[in-house]
Amino acid sequence: MSYALAFAATDPAGLWAEAGDAAAALVAGEPDGIANMANIAALIWQAIPDLNWAGFYRFDGHELVLGPFQGKAACIRIPLDKGVCGAAARLRATQRVDDVHAFPGHIACDADSRSELVVPVIANDRLVGVLDLDSPLPGRFTPDDQAGAEALVARIAAALAPSIS
Ligand code: SME
Repeated sequence: MSYALAFAATDPAGLWAEAGDAAAALVAGEPDGIANMANIAALIWQAIPDLNWAGFYRFDGHELVLGPFQGKAACIRIPLDKGVCGAAARLRATQRVDDVHAFPGHIACDADSRSELVVPVIANDRLVGVLDLDSPLPGRFTPDDQAGAEALVARIAAALAPSIS
């Protein structure tokens, strides 16, 4: 496995496809979910343009707890009835928000954030957490970004679950 990742595509679908392949290779054979989340956050931060935050919140059985990420320091705990992340976790459905200021209950961790994409991470029918992407650009995330992020998460969800070893 080379860690010198490079991404050549110029369209979102192509970038996400390359990121998905790289993600699958990065987590292959590694059982530690935290380590894998750290590498995937770094990979997305490198591959996907115009982000100001990329990372994970882990579900502890009660609420979401900050996990590995890239970007500014962020709020640590998010109840499932709060924020875009809470909605994605509670509903087990991706939240793609063009204007975070128009989202009831949005949690402004970074005042620069304007749009957000949150994908729930589900492995063996259990909620592992969420992948949260923020952008300083309004309407940054397209349906192609959503499909690409969901496909990436689906490929590696089991490797993001807590390690059993
Ligand atoms: N904006 C998120 C909180 C997490 S930060 O963006 C990193 C939300 O409303 O759930």
